[in-house]
Amino acid sequence: MNSNPTSFPRRKFFQTGLALGAAGLAASAARISAQEKAPLKGRPVAISSANGLRATDKAMELIKSGADTLDAAIAGVNIVEEDPNDMSVGYGGLPNERGVVELDACVMHGPTYRAGAVAALQNIKTPSKVAKEIMERTNHLLMVGAGALEFAKLVGFKEENLLTEPAREAWLKWRSNLNKEDNWLGDDDRHAGFFERPTGTINCCTFNEKGDLSGCTSTSGLAFKIPGRVGDSPIIGAGLYVDNAVGACGSTGFGEAVILSSGSRTVVENMRHGMKPETAILDVLRRICEQTVAKRLLRARGKPKFDVNFYAINKAGEYAGGAIYKGGKYAVHDGTKNLLRDSVYVHDDAK
Ligand code: GLY
Repeated sequence: MNSNPTSFPRRKFFQTGLALGAAGLAASAARISAQEKAPLKGRPVAISSANGLRATDKAMELIKSGADTLDAAIAGVNIVEEDPNDMSVGYGGLPNERGVVELDACVMHGPTYRAGAVAALQNIKTPSKVAKEIMERTNHLLMVGAGALEFAKLVGFKEENLLTEPAREAWLKWRSNLNKEDNWLGDDDRHAGFFERPTGTINCCTFNEKGDLSGCTSTSGLAFKIPGRVGDSPIIGAGLYVDNAVGACGSTGFGEAVILSSGSRTVVENMRHGMKPETAILDVLRRICEQTVAKRLLRARGKPKFDVNFYAINKAGEYAGGAIYKGGKYAVHDGTKNLLRDSVYVHDDAK
């Protein structure tokens, strides 16, 4: 199975769902890998969700050639946004409940403390580039829906159909079950379903030898969402936060939980107060677990039905990825190697 619930290659989508780990101990103590204990200092870093190995490679190539850290992160993310085989991001992303692809993205530039974001954007393959245009060309930070599309066209983006055949077929299959697996809550919360659903996304954060940080997050959001639903990915402080004096963090996974916890900002604040990236991430993941109390979001033994992942770098170039459940991975290029590494985690299994 695909062990990272943030990435959903089309062939595996309906086979895997969000099954999170098969076996393991009941203990909830987090594990910190040897990798996280031996960070590489003074080197550039590009870190990403597990679907971002090509993104970290591209970002590092650009960082080494002297590119701005934000341009490097966006160029990496663009590879995945334009890839129809990643059904969680950009072109080929899974659509909303009406079969329309709606994209969310944000960017944040550490050296100038600026950000841009776009939500519920239709018909543009690369929402991360639109977010950067909003940052650079306007006094605004977040634009949504029809206004965002109009802005994108005015600055030169071309409209395209983003719904690929595999995504349309996946939507049709889901549509045939509508009312059993939709997002509408019934009068009686106990009967309202929370069905594990892809929330795949890409985040990429970058760090150069000068110590500058930037980040970019992009997604097609929760598959088959109610039209207009916006997740964490375009929310500065939730799906991404960069403080050039402290560090950067981005997220993938169940966006509602990340928004509620102000996830990425809280990870960065934890690092500001001295926590290493892995500790800062685990603190927020544990809080998300503790604060998830709605029955429809909980498994029989009280663990969340969803997963959340964070990816963080601090000002020393130390980095980590973390998830609620064991089995998560993240991509990282440390200037010499570009690898998928194991994320630290809160729970051994999803029982
Ligand atoms: N993390 C992506 C979303 O929930 O939309």
